[in-house]
Amino acid sequence: MYSLKTLLVFTLIYSFIGVYSQKKEDQRARLLVSKQVLNKLLVQDSDILVKYTIYNVGSAPATNVILQDNGFPTEAFASVKGNLNMRFKRIPAGANVTHAVVIRPLTWGRFNFSAAIVQYKPTENVQETQIATSSEPGEGYIISYAEYDKKFSPHVLDWLAFAIMSLPAVAAPFMLWWFSKSKYELILKQKREKASKD
Ligand SMILES: *[C@@H]1O[C@H](CO)[C@@H](O)[C@H](O)[C@H]1NC(C)=O
Ligand SMILES: *[C@@H]1O[C@H](CO)[C@@H](O)[C@H](O)[C@H]1NC(C)=O
Repeated sequence: MYSLKTLLVFTLIYSFIGVYSQKKEDQRARLLVSKQVLNKLLVQDSDILVKYTIYNVGSAPATNVILQDNGFPTEAFASVKGNLNMRFKRIPAGANVTHAVVIRPLTWGRFNFSAAIVQYKPTENVQETQIATSSEPGEGYIISYAEYDKKFSPHVLDWLAFAIMSLPAVAAPFMLWWFSKSKYELILKQKREKASKD
């Protein structure tokens, strides 16, 4: 028969183990992932910079972290720099890692920038995989190169052509005015000389 004292000790031990194991259980990594399109203007055949930030808000390091973005199909985008499939061995608790890629849209039109997916091990011992999805940049409009050129390129050539074409229209009246002015001044001068002689 257990005494009350032994029972109390056992209860204490059990509750201690309980608290301890719960503490251990709480030691997990938790990743927040953001995906940002950094360009203000999206133009066909021009570089677009995409930035991923992984922030470990958990209390343990995340290991075997795999960032995967399937949101840029190869028929619509060319990969210029950086990998859309990235692996990080370990992200400590409280740390951020960033990754950037440069892509180039091959066509124009409306495009839905979707979320990237991150897989990771939230605890080091257990063989479980956690999946996190990034924020979604959402819908954007990729303008065609022709449209961009029309709107934003400096119209130097256009202006030059306009100036050359409009030159005769401006020059002819000027010449007329110039000749008549000189002629009038000549007459005026002759008249004045004549008057002074008289
Ligand atoms: C990580 O990023 C978050 C959110 O941007 C920020 O609050 C935090 O201070 C950053 N931590 C470090 C270590 O840079
Ligand atoms: C964009 O994609 C997300 C995720 O796939 C979807 O929930 C959303 O409805 C889409 N938006 C449009 C306008 O297609």
